[in-house]
Amino acid sequence: MSGPSASLEVADSPAELAELAARSAARAIGAAVDSHGDATWVLAGGGTPLAAYELLATRLKDTVPWARLRVLMGDERLVPVDHPESNWGQATRALLGRVPIPPEGLLRPPVELPGPDAAAAYERALRALPATRAGWPRLDVVWLGMGEDGHCLSLFPGRPEVELTDRLVVDVHDTPKPPPDRLSLTLPALRGGGCCAILAAGAGKAEMVARALAGDESLPVTRAAREITQAGGTLTWLLDRAAAPSD
Ligand code: 6PG
Repeated sequence: MSGPSASLEVADSPAELAELAARSAARAIGAAVDSHGDATWVLAGGGTPLAAYELLATRLKDTVPWARLRVLMGDERLVPVDHPESNWGQATRALLGRVPIPPEGLLRPPVELPGPDAAAAYERALRALPATRAGWPRLDVVWLGMGEDGHCLSLFPGRPEVELTDRLVVDVHDTPKPPPDRLSLTLPALRGGGCCAILAAGAGKAEMVARALAGDESLPVTRAAREITQAGGTLTWLLDRAAAPSD
């Protein structure tokens, strides 16, 4: 599970998972604002978090100090924001376009740039964030998804980007999961993570969840969990019953 500061919470359904995740993020954002006066939330891409985003835009809207929040994407597909596969576009429709985050708090990945330039620009944005005592960008709340192959962010098993230590953002190409061209935070970027969650739902994720919880370091998601906890962040596996270990 990756150390003492990791825990696991199992919801009985995807709807309950959304509620659990949304309320957890609201609490963590509020705590960060109380401590620092502001908060940075790294959003997860993919489909799993969308129901939680929707809840935070509606029934739970008043639980978050939106005016003090910055958001960025942990990874993004290099497609236009209005493309159906855009993580930022999906998050905007579900949440970002429906809550009063100040424009300067919307750290959209610059997908209009060529991959290497987009990665360099997003890295600059991360390095401009308030830093932890260890000097990493302070990412108060981090949500990560996990693929059925154990990928996390857009870091895929066996790919060289997983091993990068000299940068916070990388452009990734020819990915196994389409679209093939992406931006991703690297594993070291997670060392500034505060209250972090890996969200996984559905039976298709169960095998990789079990392998990650057993410490299988061939999986980028296992490595991500370890980066967070070894740097002092807290990590919660937020799972539905179908993705959770049976025992
Ligand atoms: C992406 C994601 C990716 C995602 C997982 C899970 O851009 O594809 O960021 O890492 O989180 O693939 O995706 P689902 O939530 O759709 O299963």
